[in-house]
Amino acid sequence: MTRIKLLLSSIMVLGFVSCKQEPPKKETSAEITMENNLLYNEQYRPQFHFSPPEKWMNDPNGLVYHQGVYHLFYQYYPDDIVWGPMHWGHAVSEDLIHWQHKPVALYPDDLGYIFSGSAVVDTDNTSGLGSGGKAPLVAVFTYHDPEKEPLGGNDHQTQGIAYSLDNGDTWEKYQGNPVLANDTFKDFRDPKVYWDEDSARWMMLLVAGDHLRIYSSPDLINWTYLSEFGRDRGAHGGVWECPDLFPLKVEGSDEEKWVLLISINPGGPNGGSATQYFVGDFDGTTFTSDQEDIRWVDWGADNYAGVTYNNTPDGDRIFIGWMSNWNYAQATPTTVWRSAMTLPRTLALQKVNGQYELKNYPVESFRSLLKPVEVKGKDVTGGVAYEYENFNAAEVRFETTLENREWRFYNEAGEELRILLDAGKKELLIDRSASGRVSFDPSFSETVHKALLPNLPDEHSFEVRIILDASSVEIFLNKGQYVMTEQLFPNQPYTHFFTSEKNPENPEIFEISRVW
Ligand code: FRU
Repeated sequence: MTRIKLLLSSIMVLGFVSCKQEPPKKETSAEITMENNLLYNEQYRPQFHFSPPEKWMNDPNGLVYHQGVYHLFYQYYPDDIVWGPMHWGHAVSEDLIHWQHKPVALYPDDLGYIFSGSAVVDTDNTSGLGSGGKAPLVAVFTYHDPEKEPLGGNDHQTQGIAYSLDNGDTWEKYQGNPVLANDTFKDFRDPKVYWDEDSARWMMLLVAGDHLRIYSSPDLINWTYLSEFGRDRGAHGGVWECPDLFPLKVEGSDEEKWVLLISINPGGPNGGSATQYFVGDFDGTTFTSDQEDIRWVDWGADNYAGVTYNNTPDGDRIFIGWMSNWNYAQATPTTVWRSAMTLPRTLALQKVNGQYELKNYPVESFRSLLKPVEVKGKDVTGGVAYEYENFNAAEVRFETTLENREWRFYNEAGEELRILLDAGKKELLIDRSASGRVSFDPSFSETVHKALLPNLPDEHSFEVRIILDASSVEIFLNKGQYVMTEQLFPNQPYTHFFTSEKNPENPEIFEISRVW
């Protein structure tokens, strides 16, 4: 069969139905899994990152662990590879690395599209939506009403809930939706709900344009406003989206601080979308922070709308972001699906030079995909080059010190990704202007992207991990102290890694197995 026929038949088998209709028959995950053998081999298809089988995806939603599985819901438009009427797509995993696709979980209805939100396990059945002793999984999301929006009022974004009694396989919307109406804020969305142990009630974080609003509820249905944060704090280059708030222990101490994540678009440090964080305190009602500077979870151009899991088995704080940027997300050169998630990352908090810093680092289970490969370096002008046939599914890892360094990945077509460490300025720079296909949108490569590394150690060496998939690179400095995530579209796989550092111990190179 030709590739096109394969695609057409897979589209027919998947049989997605969109908009305000429920599907006539919910396709089983087994059917979708079978299709993975046909899909997931396309040019640029991520081999070990999550991407939808087909069509458009944006934010991760409803991250929750329940009965042995990590759920990943996501903003999904099953009819096209650009943004459209939003549904919640769904996948599950036991290790956060191997994913099984599930049928679409939530469809738009008369109240609107299903925008971003979260999911919780209502263990004590506070909502009364459980039955037969089964705790419901409850999804809390924003309804965006596309008919009301153009009328110019402030009532088109409200919050709704849905519940599942079979661990996420099928969902019912709550009959009394919306549970939180609104006629005050034009932007009023992206509920993150979690159970607050101390006050034994649910908390909901919402963003309202330029600030965060916090609500509480005894039952996930009746919500009371508590407080707000941020009208005059942090970055405000664009609208605030996708909040999250959670406590973390400061490494090496008993101190606990609260971390608030806020995505903004535009206004990121390298243009377009990015996620900032605030470190502070939460007294069960109000979030406060002394932080004066603006902090970014990830300095790369392609990590947006990231939030963390509820209910993880060992309390780990695990983050997943959408690996794209609204500047060009709808124009990237893929045809079957569009965009992927970042690697799941464990968050940690450290205090360096009197400042709290949020670190993010690939989850431990990712290491199971890595297989070391023996590659001998060759001396070349200015450094050493390592030849390996597939740097598009590989990790390069080494220790280095804070000196001027240059690292490059390149291929026979003369395409290259350049990464520079500037020791004097304490900056990491990524230049993807010649990395492959870049012309689909001017904003993709018009500037060299920069990360500021104020507290990178200068007295001892630190680890660098560079993880490349078919259309992305993730760079983790010093165990996730500073991170850059970027999309890349080389016409052929990179086959060489160049480093300006001559060190026979360096680097370690790993092949990364595909997960599909
Ligand atoms: C963030 C976002 C959210 C919204 C969703 C719509 O990327 O704009 O604020 O809920 O995407 O798809």
